[in-house]
Amino acid sequence: MNILVTGGAGFIGSHVVRRLVKNYPNYTIYNLDALTYAGNLENLTDIDTYPNYKFLKGDIVDSQYINELFQTTNFDGVIHLAAESHVDRSIEDPLAFVRTNIIGTVNLLNAVKDNWKDNFEGKRFYHVSTDEVYGSLGIEGLFTEETSYDPNSPYSASKASSDHFVRSYGETYGLPYVVTNCSNNYGPYHFPEKLIPLFINNIIEKKNLPVYGDGKYTRDWLFVEDHAKAIDLVFHKGNNGETYNIGGFNEWQNIDLVKLLCSVMDKKLNRSQGESEQLITYVKDRPGHDLRYAIDASKINKELGWKPSVTFEEGLEITVDWYLNNSEWLKNVTSGDYKEYYSKMYS
Ligand code: NAD
Ligand code: TYD
Repeated sequence: MNILVTGGAGFIGSHVVRRLVKNYPNYTIYNLDALTYAGNLENLTDIDTYPNYKFLKGDIVDSQYINELFQTTNFDGVIHLAAESHVDRSIEDPLAFVRTNIIGTVNLLNAVKDNWKDNFEGKRFYHVSTDEVYGSLGIEGLFTEETSYDPNSPYSASKASSDHFVRSYGETYGLPYVVTNCSNNYGPYHFPEKLIPLFINNIIEKKNLPVYGDGKYTRDWLFVEDHAKAIDLVFHKGNNGETYNIGGFNEWQNIDLVKLLCSVMDKKLNRSQGESEQLITYVKDRPGHDLRYAIDASKINKELGWKPSVTFEEGLEITVDWYLNNSEWLKNVTSGDYKEYYSKMYS
């Protein structure tokens, strides 16, 4: 079986690729990634010599490249994670999100439609999406698979659009697909622009911790390896044409999470308790900031038996230990050279 994983050099994609390469020696896992600022082959050095792993550098926005790839390789399944993924960047440059998240997804859909068209049997297109498509909750309630889409940021609007395109290819062309909408992930290899890895890095460097607004925004956090496990399960056992919500049953207000992280870091760094909390700085709020995300993950739990395997405290400790033991990785992704590479990609 040949599986194409897009975005496999990114945060979640690297965990998915690692899991598939290790668990399915009979599959060939193709990792297609453009290596934007968020893509990093250092995320995969432990598996990149496995015989069932192949890396392809390519851009999903390049329809000719994608089409040729599907003509030359017979893929049985696609697990699509490649995306622009950071809300703050989407506020700065919405078109980058339209290009990759919408046009790139439609390019992939066209390639699978045209190349699989007479033989959908045993094929599957899996779109990895976010709970942010549902918009914001008030202080009560949970997102279910039936919640209406109501995206508020350019990022979530682009993911909502790509979800709709995937579903429309199912309805219109009979494409076998699954979509999952997952809550906020955290764990090793997370690029330090998102809340948890940014704050770990800033605490190490004794830099300010910029909490947006009053810090009372709420997110549901899931350890990334539990997400990869859910993706593996849905890819193999999910039903075509279905959506599954994936979440950690683990809601935290940002400020409480940041205080917990400060306390764990103080312990690990042998600093006095309360020292890192001094770095908390309340800053201007993110425009259009969604108040609360929370997932009802009972469908995937009941139908496929999935549930998170670690508590937040356990997952956070694993994550902090990983960043402290991988200072070279952190140094490389935060270095000036790396930023220069990013600016060249997008100039
Ligand atoms: P990431 O930003 O860490 O990685 C994205 C990867 O996609 C990078 O390796 C990048 O090089 C690659 N990429 C970007 N543009 C590309 C293009 N045009 N062609 C080919 N490759 C390209 O993202 P992530 O946090 O790992 O998220 C992966 C997926 O999961 C995304 O689709 C995201 O919307 C979704 N998701 C993320 C979260 C989260 O908390 N991070 C939660 C739910 C869903
Ligand atoms: P983030 O990690 O960017 O994920 P998302 O916006 O997709 O949920 O942000 C998580 C929460 O943390 C969100 O409410 C915004 C907030 N936040 C800060 O307060 N300060 C920061 O520097 C960042 C990056 C995020």
